[in-house]
Amino acid sequence: MIPQTFIDDLLARADIVQVVERFVPLKKAGQNYSACCPFHQEKSPSFTVSPTKQFYHCFGCGVHGNALGFIMEYQGLGFIDAVKMLASEYGMVVPEERSERFEQQKAVVSPLLDVMSVATNFFKKSLKQSPEAIDYLKKRGLTGEIAARFELGFSPEDWQALATVFPQYETQDDLLSAGLVIKNEQGRRYDRFRHRVMFPIHNQKGQIIGFGGRVLGKGEPKYLNSPETPLFEKGKELYGLWQARQAIKTAGKVMVVEGYMDVVALSQFGVDYAVATLGTATTGDHIHKLLRYSERIIFCFDGDNAGRKAAWRALENLLPLLTDAITTEFLFLPEGEDPDTFVRQVGKDGFEKLLAERVLPLSRFLIQEIGSRTELAKGRAEDKAKFWHEIKPLLNQIAAPTLRNVMWTEARNFAGLLRPKQEKWQPGKKRSPPEVRMASKAPATLEDRLIGFLLQKPAIAERNRSLFGQLHKSHIDGAESQALLEFLQSSPTLKEVSTEVILQQFPQFHSRWQKLLTAEWVVSQDFASEEAEKEFADICQQIIKSAEWKKQEQLQDYIERKVTSSGLASLTPEEKEKYRELTLMRARR
Ligand code: UTP
Ligand code: MN
Repeated sequence: MIPQTFIDDLLARADIVQVVERFVPLKKAGQNYSACCPFHQEKSPSFTVSPTKQFYHCFGCGVHGNALGFIMEYQGLGFIDAVKMLASEYGMVVPEERSERFEQQKAVVSPLLDVMSVATNFFKKSLKQSPEAIDYLKKRGLTGEIAARFELGFSPEDWQALATVFPQYETQDDLLSAGLVIKNEQGRRYDRFRHRVMFPIHNQKGQIIGFGGRVLGKGEPKYLNSPETPLFEKGKELYGLWQARQAIKTAGKVMVVEGYMDVVALSQFGVDYAVATLGTATTGDHIHKLLRYSERIIFCFDGDNAGRKAAWRALENLLPLLTDAITTEFLFLPEGEDPDTFVRQVGKDGFEKLLAERVLPLSRFLIQEIGSRTELAKGRAEDKAKFWHEIKPLLNQIAAPTLRNVMWTEARNFAGLLRPKQEKWQPGKKRSPPEVRMASKAPATLEDRLIGFLLQKPAIAERNRSLFGQLHKSHIDGAESQALLEFLQSSPTLKEVSTEVILQQFPQFHSRWQKLLTAEWVVSQDFASEEAEKEFADICQQIIKSAEWKKQEQLQDYIERKVTSSGLASLTPEEKEKYRELTLMRARR
């Protein structure tokens, strides 16, 4: 409750020598101070205090600590009282705000928790006494054991059933604040939950903070939930997390489903690592809660349209929260099934088999979904453009750097932009390369970078024509880049040349070029940007420079060999000039 920064400040201000000296006379001994230990009986001093380390230590009995530790030990005080005492000695005021707020909150919250607990017990007892409710749960296949594990209950059909356990029903406002009782305009009070199976919702401490109540059979609403109260925020809580917490750790994964009954049924069949959102989409708060228990989160949805829609909403909320360490996956059940009905049919093994076979990582789900929305399978340029148009803003939301890069590559491969075997390349059709606002990291060689740029955006050579014109076949080593250079330099105008045209021209290089085009630095490069222009010019210059350097070195080699074998006189006038230059350069070094 006391902020750590205050404690740090206090320890920085306090001097342990002063603090100890107040109770124990100290003698200087070298850098440190010593005394007979105040914590055990001894005749010769083995208790030392170090002003540089701000620590005390006894070589006899082993006690040690800082200034606060000493006060706690010597005065027998608790941590907070020790802080207060030390602070008052140094004229510092302990910030109380937070603890006051905490106390206030506790004052509001704890009576509500008490009320919830009493209500839960009442509902549980009512379930035992209601053949109708027991019958309903049995028909749904629930065992008594699982009902007990989830503390299921029943709210009787009375308007004021809770009055039997709350004698002050008519005046006790805690019942209103806890969301158990409603007051109408005439001031009459009545139970919110009537004639429903009650699912208590626990917080992470295991306290009951809300309820979901299901009608027996048909009726509206199917589920009635507690309203927002000081205890309960629907968008933050997860049903079943309290019961599943250990199993989640053991299984190394957590499954998020949609319904109360799904969690209960899964647990009954041994899939005990499931939790449910409370009829809302998955929020950041949910994710943060789950990450405390596991970094692998599986979202399980019904296989129908509504399920896919819900999954998509979860995905949209997830993108900005992803880190490279989190794995998020999606499992779609066969059409018409929910986890409850499905696990009852196939059992734990069948369910986990489906999980192993069908689970889609978030990346795959994202790409498939956008792919199917944009009819990518038709392979038309327009569909590809639409695919990129839709997927770009989503990919840009991913903050995790590695994941984002890898997903660019995946999306690209999926879009089939680089699969000449499956698609005919049609000359003249331009495709829109993805724009990513990211500096290109270029782990590739100069020549690969040149090819990458020329393949991705042949027109870039047009706009850097004079530099590009200076590039010569002899500047480069690779047969592919030489061929590409020759082809492009002999094209009358590069504006008309597209990637497709080039690929058609050189089928023999396809496999290598495809690899190159899906390299991370290519995929993450925005070839339309000004930086890309600059980078291209830079690549050309560097290639020319390094080729010239190489030529110089070869010439030097040649001249030196000639001088050693045949003497200075054998050099031509130009070679002599060069040799003089070389000698001068060496002399300067
Ligand atoms: P479903 O309608 O899928 O319910 O709602 P279900 O879990 O399959 O329930 P059963 O099997 O018919 O009993 C999924 C979740 O959406 C919320 C609840 O949290 C429910 O578990 N919901 C649904 C509501 O809050 N209110 C409703 O009226 C319906
Ligand atoms: Mn259901």
